Amino acid sequence: MLVTTQLNAQSQDTKMKAFVDALMKKMTLEEKIGQLNLPGSGDIVTGQAGNSDIAKKISEGKVGGLFNIKSVAKIKEVQKLAVERSRLKIPLIFGMDVIHGYETVFPIPLGLSCSWDMNLVERSARIAAQEASADGICWTFSPMVDIARDPRWGRIAEGSGEDAYLGSQIAKAMVKGYQGNDLSRNNTIMSCVKHYALYGAAEAGRDYGTTDMSHQRMYNEYFPPYKAAVDAGVGSVMASFNEIDGVPATANRWLLTDVLRKQWGFKGFVVTDYTGINEMIDHGIGDLQMASARALMAGIDMDMVGEGILNTVPKSLKEGKVTLKAIDDACRRILEAKYKLGLFEDPYRYCDENRAKTEIFTMANRTEARNIAAQSFVLLKNQGNVLPLKKSGTIALIGPLADNKENMPGTWSVAANFANATSLLTGLKEVVGSQVKILHARGSNLDTDSLFEERAGMFGKSLRRDSRPASVIMQEAIDIANQSDVIVAALGESSEMSGESSSRSSIEIPAIQKELLAALLKTGKPVVLVLFTGRPLALKWEHENTAAILNVWFGGSEAGYAIADVLFGDTNPSGKLSTTFPQNIGQVPIFYNHKNTGRPLEAGKWFQKFRSNYLDVSNEPLYPFGYGLSYTNFTYSDIKVSSKSLKGNQSLTASVTVTNSGTRAGKEVVQLYIRDLVGSVTRPVKELKGFQKIDLKAGESKTVSFTITPEDLKFYNYDLKYDWEAGDFVIMIGGNSRDVKSANVNWAK
Ligand code: BGC
Repeated sequence: MLVTTQLNAQSQDTKMKAFVDALMKKMTLEEKIGQLNLPGSGDIVTGQAGNSDIAKKISEGKVGGLFNIKSVAKIKEVQKLAVERSRLKIPLIFGMDVIHGYETVFPIPLGLSCSWDMNLVERSARIAAQEASADGICWTFSPMVDIARDPRWGRIAEGSGEDAYLGSQIAKAMVKGYQGNDLSRNNTIMSCVKHYALYGAAEAGRDYGTTDMSHQRMYNEYFPPYKAAVDAGVGSVMASFNEIDGVPATANRWLLTDVLRKQWGFKGFVVTDYTGINEMIDHGIGDLQMASARALMAGIDMDMVGEGILNTVPKSLKEGKVTLKAIDDACRRILEAKYKLGLFEDPYRYCDENRAKTEIFTMANRTEARNIAAQSFVLLKNQGNVLPLKKSGTIALIGPLADNKENMPGTWSVAANFANATSLLTGLKEVVGSQVKILHARGSNLDTDSLFEERAGMFGKSLRRDSRPASVIMQEAIDIANQSDVIVAALGESSEMSGESSSRSSIEIPAIQKELLAALLKTGKPVVLVLFTGRPLALKWEHENTAAILNVWFGGSEAGYAIADVLFGDTNPSGKLSTTFPQNIGQVPIFYNHKNTGRPLEAGKWFQKFRSNYLDVSNEPLYPFGYGLSYTNFTYSDIKVSSKSLKGNQSLTASVTVTNSGTRAGKEVVQLYIRDLVGSVTRPVKELKGFQKIDLKAGESKTVSFTITPEDLKFYNYDLKYDWEAGDFVIMIGGNSRDVKSANVNWAK
């Protein structure tokens, strides 16, 4: 069977090569360079594409693809120009930022990663592909797999958090969900993993900032999710904006060719990020000609928006600054992508008006999105079981995020139709409105500073600022709070407070909202904080003062319903953090898999002189990686290992029995961590190596076993050789990265 599949793949490759060879023989140099061009199209108006500037370029064969054009009608119109007016009739590839869903929007990726459920992650990508492809799109700029450990960086919202192992599992699931087994089917789309590489490690968390790290950290902690996407067969890769080792990723030959192609065997094409080539002028790499030549020679195949390659590479070729081989290689890779997508066979493969009408934002997709959203929420605190709420009495729903649909989908929801999203108020009313009296007031604006609020409400996501005095807005809320049995405070960030170019130097809830929360707490009524955020926030005060905190991130188009499902206990929360929540901004970067140092603080201690710690805050995070509560409780037995001493390629079984000791059914994410106690280079205090999400009925117990082999012990050593080293290991299993049961084993070579 395997042999047959391999043979099939080989014969398809041979066919593709013959096709592309024949086509390239007919192409002029200009036409080849044209394929490398991915210009910005602006918003093309239906019926007018033919007269646009872009139309002229397409007819001249100077465009390889376009992106972020929405609707079959528009895409068809533009594709027609390529296949009817250009000399060689080469179809265009149509991309879009389909980041966490199309019109049916799923939670922002950071939220989705907290589900720790790879089936759901894959499902979300599958549905996104289904909807996008029904609307003309065949290529998505997703998944974003940048490891991020700095919550100041707004784009932490777009990735899967701080951990390389979890990030790699998610990268694979997303690529599989988008691409399926056959890219030429009309409901699968090509995936583009981004932003290669290390974009999430920007200095000071400022977007587009410089990164600088050891190769060991790159290979062990930041590269794995990109590599996982490549191993999963991702069709394309996007270069990142930042520099690496002093060379912008877009011109970094070591990164784009030596690592990506030679070490990892990537065979698809590499696209720049938006004007990535032009920006190298500001990086200080040279003028546009120099930047474009360096990009091409480094391994860039397609130039997004800036047209540096289109306009300067012919000259560079004459001057010997680029080679014809580099142009040919890039052109071939783009033609191959189009071939794999089946565009040469049928350029309108993804342009079926009927599918567009029947397959987008369907009730079935929305139902799945509602469930997936509920799985992404993380219950951070639930003192005295304030949650779930009773389906009776009066609730006061208060906060600037309580009644705003536009902010529900979250950052980077390009295809979303905001009118279709459901606000929390609407969700609550529709889910429990017949049993529960719901009062609503805004309570405060997002922030006292109206200019800040404007910046935090771009792309049609305004919170419609209330111009009345703050005291009046707040009093109205206190009045309804006094009439209620319980207060639900919908506070936090607006969706555009995270995402691209949305870095923050403070990671707290804006002061006016904190004042509101304090005033609500003063009423003496129980308060549930429903926290909207695209990043870890510093919530020490909120944690100390509020009985219950449910972190809902930005849950997508169905978030309003999903939050209601969880608040009222129809869904038991099971999300676990994929990123550490610090106590304060000064602890950043703080992540669970740090090194031990030569002067570690003793366990349980707050401060010891001449140890690695702070004078004014303990080393502990507020909420550790992997943490999240449930409406039930799980207890863990001690860990059992099949052997305490192992040799060579033997495998170890480590298991625990997990018991649902509460009164409701629930899901628990059982996590396996390993510490390599001695190494030729220092090793982290623990590393996630496996996880299983299990369902347990009230009172039920299950034994969860992990099989560990030397493969799980491998790391990149000083010489960047990937291998394992004999010695002592601590095997840990628990419900988060802090609270674990452990056993020691020795593993000899
Ligand atoms: C972002 C990318 C995105 C691209 C195209 C850039 O600004 O960094 O993540 O895919 O725009 O919209």
